[in-house]
Amino acid sequence: MKAIEIKKGIYWVGAIDWDLRNFHGYSTQRGSTYNAYLIMDEKITLIDTVKNHLKDEMMERISSVVDPSKIDYVISNHVEMDHSGALPAIMDAAQDAVIFCSANGQRGLKAHYKKEWNFRTVKTGDVVSLGKRSIQFILTPMVHWPDNMIGYVPEEKILFSNDSFGQHYASSERFDDECDLGIVMEEAAKYYANIVLPYSSQVQKELNEAKDLDIQIIAPSHGIIWREHVSEIVNEYIKWANNTTEKKALIIYDTMWGSTQKIAYTIQDVFERKGYSVKVFNLQHNHISDIMTEVLTAEYVCVGSPTLNSNIMADVAAFLTYLKGLAPKDRKAIVFGSYGWGGQSAAILEKNMDEAKFEVVSNIKVRYIPDDNQLMDIKQELEKSI
Ligand code: FEO
Repeated sequence: MKAIEIKKGIYWVGAIDWDLRNFHGYSTQRGSTYNAYLIMDEKITLIDTVKNHLKDEMMERISSVVDPSKIDYVISNHVEMDHSGALPAIMDAAQDAVIFCSANGQRGLKAHYKKEWNFRTVKTGDVVSLGKRSIQFILTPMVHWPDNMIGYVPEEKILFSNDSFGQHYASSERFDDECDLGIVMEEAAKYYANIVLPYSSQVQKELNEAKDLDIQIIAPSHGIIWREHVSEIVNEYIKWANNTTEKKALIIYDTMWGSTQKIAYTIQDVFERKGYSVKVFNLQHNHISDIMTEVLTAEYVCVGSPTLNSNIMADVAAFLTYLKGLAPKDRKAIVFGSYGWGGQSAAILEKNMDEAKFEVVSNIKVRYIPDDNQLMDIKQELEKSI
């Protein structure tokens, strides 16, 4: 496998993970890539590595340009093993290479690999000369781990952005103008919603620190490289980081005998009449990470479950756990559920949505099967709350 030159003397030497379908609970239906970049300069520099099981692919691509033992510098932007997994293989090949990383990165790499490599820690504003080119570092802690940083090469106007602006998207194409932009944007949104969302305030800081850079190319650590649609993806990041929502309502539920589903469709009808874009997700048929992509821009998140064994259904509980972890802000909620006798589900849902810091505007519970009159009452109540 060969390196792909993305700009004169700068190569993509990453690996394509065609098989990846689950990234710690996030369904990656289009696989992923782990992007490593090789800069051929007076100091031969590798930016990030790949997951360990794909290290041979990375080595082969590097070797198509240069003997890996000649690498002088390794920039480790992020400790997470999808980017550092092949670092030991690189350091075995290039034993004198200097690793540039944040102080948290050094701690993380030592904790993961138990090696006393030649580390040099950097902080925001530090610049390292590679010869004709240089790298300016910006620390971006918590986008996505405490160690994260990004690097800007002013001579080439390239930002190596690590997890930011990435997408889990396996393709043999490397650039945004070579792929279906709708799919790439969808995967970028899914990536933001499922990985980056809890750290939106840190993304705002990152965007602010990078706002004066003249960027022609954003080279992330996953998916395709942005060169034709840089302003579009930056604008999307500004929107997502600011918790900007649309007139959109999601209705997410499970049902045992169809009663909770009847309430779900009644809620759908009210939102439609009010001009909302509505999406309905039965948790039996939809993955929670796909639902999160929609939560990213939704004003309302409505969650329903019947009462099951004095509780809510397990897939609804799993969704709520996932939602709380990803912590979208400034949203409204409606909770609903049918029951036979105990009737605990709606209160449990409301407690969960309170804990997730949603504003719960309505709590709907119906015993057994709602009839037309009850559904009409629900509509009339909701008309007042939405
Ligand atoms: Fe792609 Fe946080 O690692």
